[in-house]
Amino acid sequence: MGDRAKQKSYDRVLSHIRELTAGETDTIAVMATVVCELHHSFDTFDWTGFYRVVAPGLLKIGPYQGGHGCLQIPFGRGVCGAAARRRRTLVVPDVREFAGHIACSATTRSEIVVPVIASAGEVIAVLDVDSNELDAFDEVDRVNLEAVCEMVSGSAS
Ligand code: SME
Repeated sequence: MGDRAKQKSYDRVLSHIRELTAGETDTIAVMATVVCELHHSFDTFDWTGFYRVVAPGLLKIGPYQGGHGCLQIPFGRGVCGAAARRRRTLVVPDVREFAGHIACSATTRSEIVVPVIASAGEVIAVLDVDSNELDAFDEVDRVNLEAVCEMVSGSAS
């Protein structure tokens, strides 16, 4: 998919998410809606989900769509843990080149992980999207998935 077509799909899915979650203050309900809408909008999204911060330095799975994933990930481990610790989006074009990548699925080739940062500045979750295609994610994904994560953090405040 070219970047223009991809942006159009994101425009559609973001406005759909906005409509579906309007006024919702339960962050897990918002997250569940987000992963459902994203996962079914892009063929390249093979695993789409959140890992939530449930204790200092600890991420726990869910909500998600796709095959099973690791239940918990400490900050600093894998791409999810690195994005949570560094508090910034990580795009990994080839997971074989990311030292410490956690291979929950042998078919994952690339991924993007975006932190969800609450208004007080703390990381409350990360959004992890894994693809079976190499180099599936670019700036268009980064910008739009960061906008999605801002909607999620907005529901928490
Ligand atoms: N991709 C992650 C692990 C989570 S599962 O693949 C769902 C990582 O290395 O952080």
